[in-house]
Amino acid sequence: MSQLASMTQRSPESNAPVQEIARTPELTVVVPTFKESANVAILVERLSAALAGVAWEAVIVDDDSPDGTADAVKAIAAIDPRVRCIRRVKRRGLAGACIEGMLSSSASYVAVMDADLQHDEKLLPRMLAVLKGGESDLVVGSRYVEGGSAASFSRHRGFLSRAATAIARRWTHVQLSDPMSGFFMMRRAAFDPLASELQTQGFKILLDIVISAKGGLRIAEEPYVFAARQHGESKLDAQVGLDFIGLLLAKMTGGAVTPRFLSFALVGTIGLGVHLAMLRGALGFDFAFPQAQALATFIAMTGNFFLNNQLTYRDKRLSGGAALRGLLSFYAISAVGALTNVGAASWLYAYEQVWWLAGASGALMGAVWNYAMATLLVWRVK
Ligand code: GDD
Ligand code: MN
Repeated sequence: MSQLASMTQRSPESNAPVQEIARTPELTVVVPTFKESANVAILVERLSAALAGVAWEAVIVDDDSPDGTADAVKAIAAIDPRVRCIRRVKRRGLAGACIEGMLSSSASYVAVMDADLQHDEKLLPRMLAVLKGGESDLVVGSRYVEGGSAASFSRHRGFLSRAATAIARRWTHVQLSDPMSGFFMMRRAAFDPLASELQTQGFKILLDIVISAKGGLRIAEEPYVFAARQHGESKLDAQVGLDFIGLLLAKMTGGAVTPRFLSFALVGTIGLGVHLAMLRGALGFDFAFPQAQALATFIAMTGNFFLNNQLTYRDKRLSGGAALRGLLSFYAISAVGALTNVGAASWLYAYEQVWWLAGASGALMGAVWNYAMATLLVWRVK
């Protein structure tokens, strides 16, 4: 700041722009990035043009992209004080990146926007004007109101987007035209109290904000045209779809079912399939039943560990020696889980001789145990 102030004194001819930069930003544009090194410079240029006359800053939150996105951003930040980079290590997640960027802001207004130039930065001044009008707390850039469009979508992506929109509107009471939008601006004072409620995995930050606010936000929508991606590729995959279902379940059960647990349970179900297939195969090779069952259990447990490491705990993924130690503790935990399962089921069965109720309760107990211990001890999620 003091350096900027002295710059103002030393260069009176460039007085106006320098004072502009030195002003405390009124708008923070939060941009999550993962492998966007080819886009960030163009993005900052476009923001600069679109937001002429606004005191803005860009907070680019990068999850340690292997393509050097953070370095590219820091090179820009070195000559443009309106740009900051938050480099997060050992973490992944679009939503979490957005939340951290928004929390780092001291401006009155915060926007979230993709780095890949698919969102129209020219909408930002309009969004800001709507918020300053005082009638709204949140303005959503929508592809599905008059004047907006998502024509750049492939047929497949367009179908998925419409399906997710329909599900979100039916399962939640959110009546947005485009609840899947990743482009919005809000009053920071309206965001701050919600931050601790939000989930950090997945893409659905806007939907989460609106659900968590429980009707407490006045929302406006503004149309924009979703552009085609020019550089790099989309990170939306099947996992993101699962996260989306997990978010809805978590919100509907008041947090009892978390996306992580859902993923763990899904992996467990796949593991059961693997187990049965292996058991059948081993019996086919004339193994005695106990040996066949032991082999199937061992293979299913090992498979579960690697699937969970890949999916359920991908933000805490273990590799090398840590993965081997993790695998061994996972075996131990699963063994105790199996005992818990059998113990609980037998105890229940002694009281109430309904085999499936006892069996299912035992399996659930075992799963909850495994999940809690794996989360705590193997992948060490805080
Ligand atoms: N920090 C961080 N961490 N950023 C990420 C991550 C991550 O794990 N995954 C993706 N991003 C960044 C990308 O670099 C990009 O700037 C932005 O988040 C959107 O990611 P894309 O991979 O381009 O997503 P998309 O274009 O398929 O999806 C967009 O449209 C959807 C609606 O159809 C996003 O705006 C979604 O939020 C939106 O729901
Ligand atoms: Mn994109």
